[in-house]
Amino acid sequence: MPYTKRFDGRKFDETRKIEAEVGVIPNADGSAMFCFGDTKAIAAVYGPRTLYPQHLQDPTRGRLKCIYDMLSFSVTERKRPGPSRRSIEISMVTEKALNPALKLEKFPNSAVNLYIMVIQANAGTRTAGINAASLALAHAGLPMTDLVSSVSVGKIGGKICVDLTKDEEDYKEKDEKDTTDIPFAIMPRNGKVTLLQLDGKITSKELKEALQTAKKVCNQIYEVQKKVLQEALNK
Ligand code: CDP
Repeated sequence: MPYTKRFDGRKFDETRKIEAEVGVIPNADGSAMFCFGDTKAIAAVYGPRTLYPQHLQDPTRGRLKCIYDMLSFSVTERKRPGPSRRSIEISMVTEKALNPALKLEKFPNSAVNLYIMVIQANAGTRTAGINAASLALAHAGLPMTDLVSSVSVGKIGGKICVDLTKDEEDYKEKDEKDTTDIPFAIMPRNGKVTLLQLDGKITSKELKEALQTAKKVCNQIYEVQKKVLQEALNK
């Protein structure tokens, strides 16, 4: 059956309700919260500070070290605490998605530690985490060329949709999974894509449409991120 109406009644190019805030962790140098509906991520930034062990120091630039994790009860089936293959992969792609926006050459031999914790998950946690992290890095006052905005886009039963929920990710047609999930991140000012992953099948024509939609929605997220930072500055 084609997917003609979304489970939660959203338009195909509509995200869940976005909530964002900076300064949620006073002890951190920068922090932020970002939600896509009931997917909630918190990011905390510490540093730049001298990187240890010393042999990892780079005299030409600082290093962004990201740790992503989910709380055990952020998901329906308890997640075993501690790092997993999945969390290590997401930490790595998050680092890669954010690095191009940071001017880390200004901080040789240093580390910027970024912790992303998902406190409630209903798909799209890496994209919510990247949005929170981008806000937290800016809130920490780190020199950046731009923010990074992120959303997942996908194909459900032949239809291009943004910000998939877990039910949508698991959508099955004739007992066969019929969802494609594409986490996407961009630096909206120069249009540089910093995250592009793909799980599932898609034609090149559909991929083009999906990426156009993702870009359009990231521009909307970018406006929210800028507004949140502006409001924090005005306080
Ligand atoms: O969260 P994201 O979409 O970026 O990554 P994913 O690996 O595609 O995971 C999709 C969703 O599966 C998560 O957001 C959680 O809702 C769920 N999940 C879960 O229930 N238990 C896990 N151990 C991992 C993920």
